[in-house]
Amino acid sequence: MTGRVIIVTGANVGLGFLASKILCEGGNEVILACRNEEKGKAAVETILKDNPNALATFLKLDLADLASVRSFVEEFRKLDKKLNVLINNAGVFPSKSPLRTFTKDNFEMTMGVNHLGHFLLTNLLLDDLKQTAKETGDSRIVVVTSSLHDTKVKHAPTVATNVDDIFLAELGAYNGAQAYKNSKLANILFTYELARQIEGSGVTVNCVCPGFIPHTELGRTASAPVRFFTRYVLGGLLKFTKITRTVDQGARAEVNLAINEELKGVNGKYFTSMEEKKSSDESLEEDLQKKMWELSARYCHMEGYEPLDAPVPPTPEEIKAREEEAKQKAKEEAERIKQEKQKAKEAAQKAKEEAKAKAAEAKAKVEEVKDEAKDKVEEAKEGAESKVEEVKEKVGEVVEEAKEKAEEKMDEIKKDVGEIKDDLEKKVSEVADMAEEKKDKLADIISPTPVQQTAS
Ligand SMILES: NC(=O)c1ccc[n+]([C@@H]2O[C@H](COP(=O)([O-])OP(=O)(O)OC[C@H]3O[C@@H](n4cnc5c(N)ncnc54)[C@H](OP(=O)(O)O)[C@@H]3O)[C@@H](O)[C@H]2O)c1
Repeated sequence: MTGRVIIVTGANVGLGFLASKILCEGGNEVILACRNEEKGKAAVETILKDNPNALATFLKLDLADLASVRSFVEEFRKLDKKLNVLINNAGVFPSKSPLRTFTKDNFEMTMGVNHLGHFLLTNLLLDDLKQTAKETGDSRIVVVTSSLHDTKVKHAPTVATNVDDIFLAELGAYNGAQAYKNSKLANILFTYELARQIEGSGVTVNCVCPGFIPHTELGRTASAPVRFFTRYVLGGLLKFTKITRTVDQGARAEVNLAINEELKGVNGKYFTSMEEKKSSDESLEEDLQKKMWELSARYCHMEGYEPLDAPVPPTPEEIKAREEEAKQKAKEEAERIKQEKQKAKEAAQKAKEEAKAKAAEAKAKVEEVKDEAKDKVEEAKEGAESKVEEVKEKVGEVVEEAKEKAEEKMDEIKKDVGEIKDDLEKKVSEVADMAEEKKDKLADIISPTPVQQTAS
């Protein structure tokens, strides 16, 4: 489909300009809503130079002034055009200055431009979008947010948004990173709440983080060295890790949500580049979405809501006084921290010394126990040795005694054997004598002694 009428805010440079150019190339009519007439007209000229048939028009819109937002809508209505798409692209990233700046309506600048100006603009153009949706069945709102809405995305330390202090008026609450985070969170809270309210109307609203794109003008308020570092050093390094996106990729992420036919009917979603993603847990809190809506409607003096005015910003004198007060507080805080550091240092020293003494004590105790153990071992050794000697002596005595007894026994046996021997010898000699006697007698019988012949 071509021929849509698309409003792009902040379209004179960066993503807004390129998205406008691409949309014109696609045969759409783009209204470049810019705060600076000269820059806005120059942007239109550049588009026409490359594409003389482009339907590009400049219309003045200063989001830092609610009256300008209202007159922009009036001027647009005078053109008598059907509105198909609104791209809320314009944005500011505050400088590193610790001082807040303010919109015409006394809003803190970042919240005022990035969220509240767009909040009013969208609500004022909602009827136009609804009207077009009735005829085409498809009107869209694209909200350009950032992954920096999430405290978990590390860029600079930020905290959860305090909805009771959206202009960061409390002392010490303001810093640029926190202001930007709050405004980009507000963009998402707004998207989700609006999506619920317009469901079924044919108008859809989605938000997109185009990715980290160092080559736009967003960091223009930073110092020259920081700009150089972000753009060329950091941007160059991160290019290789694919963390950064080109201006063309960022612009096409916006164009995708604005006209991609496949996304017709998609409502209330968060995209990073071309992909649908889950936004931070904080952004998903329905209570917070409603509270932010109510507050925004009141600050924008929208019909049906009780008007609320932002407090008048402090005068230069008051700022100076607050600065002095802050300086004094910071000085006192620094002194307190210094004293606490000193106390901590002393406590650490004391603890160190105590620990050292305790260690020495423990070491001495260990030595003592060691010596005691050594003595005990020595004693036990000596006791064991004397016991061994005693046992040895005892064994010697027993052996000696056994030896003596054995010898005695031997003598006894020897004596008994001697006696038996003597006895035996005696018996043998008696037997021998008896045998001799018997022999003699036998001899006498065998050959008697001759009878004395003479006697006959
Ligand atoms: N670049 C990134 O890395 C990045 C990352 C995430 C999200 N984003 C978001 O992308 C969007 C576009 O940013 P960009 O990087 O293209 O920045 P950019 O180059 O600085 O463009 C910002 C545009 O917003 C306009 N603008 C500022 N204050 C305005 C006001 N009071 N009324 C109307 N218009 C106003 C600027 O106009 P002037 O020229 O007159 O000031 C400029 O046209 C922003 O919403 C930004 O938060 C950017």
